Amino acid sequence: MASLFRIAIFASGQGSNFQTFVDATQSGRLEAEIVLLVSDKAKAPVVERAQRAGIDSYVFDPKAYAKREDYELEIAAELERRQVDLVVLAGYMRLLTSVLVDRYTGRMINIHPSLLPAFPGKDAIEQAWEYGVKTTGITVHLVDGGMDTGAVIAQKAVEIRNEDSLESLEEKIHAAEKELYPQVVSWFAKGMIRVEGRKVSVLQK
Ligand code: GAR
Repeated sequence: MASLFRIAIFASGQGSNFQTFVDATQSGRLEAEIVLLVSDKAKAPVVERAQRAGIDSYVFDPKAYAKREDYELEIAAELERRQVDLVVLAGYMRLLTSVLVDRYTGRMINIHPSLLPAFPGKDAIEQAWEYGVKTTGITVHLVDGGMDTGAVIAQKAVEIRNEDSLESLEEKIHAAEKELYPQVVSWFAKGMIRVEGRKVSVLQK
C-alpha cells in the first residue's frame, strides 16, 4: 500500500479548520495523515483538539526565544523528522522567516478569509464588512515571506447581502473554508498542483 500523504498543521486559535482536517482524514474524505500540530499558544483550544484526536503537538512559546529563526529551526527539525510533505497553515497568526519558507517553498499553504489581495492581515472578515464590499470570500495560497502575499491556488467568493450581520458573514466564510481547504490539500496529495511563478494550475487527473 502506498504511504499516506503527510501533513503538518500550524494553528494558533480555535482550530475549527484543524478539526475539519481531523474529520476529513478520519472519514477518508481526505487521503492524508496529520502527523503534527504546531502551535505557538499552549492554551489554544486547537491544542486540546489535537490531544483528543491523538495527534502529536509541538507547542512552543515565542517569548522564550531571542528571534523567530531560533524557534523555526526547532520546528523545521520536527517537520523533517516526520517527513512532512505539506505544511498547512490554519489560523497560524505569525509571519514566517526564510528558515521555514525556503525549506518548504511550494509545499506550504495558508488559508485567508478574504479574496486576496483585498484585506490582508488580521481581522480580514471584519475589514471587508466595515469596508462595505458586496462580495468577499476566501483564498488558499502558497506561503512566501510576506503577509498573505504568496501565489493564489484557489478562491471562493462569498456574497454579503443586506440581511447579513458580521456574525452571519463569519459563519458563511468559515463554512466555505471547510469545503475548500481539504479539497486543495487533496489536490496536493494527488500531485495535481503545478506552480509557474505566480501562476498556479490544478491539473485534471
Ligand atoms: C480562519 O478563518 C482563517 O482563515 C484565519 O483564521 C481563522 C482560524 O480559525 N486566518 C487568517 O486570518 C490568516 N491571516 P480556526 O482556528 O477556527 O481554524
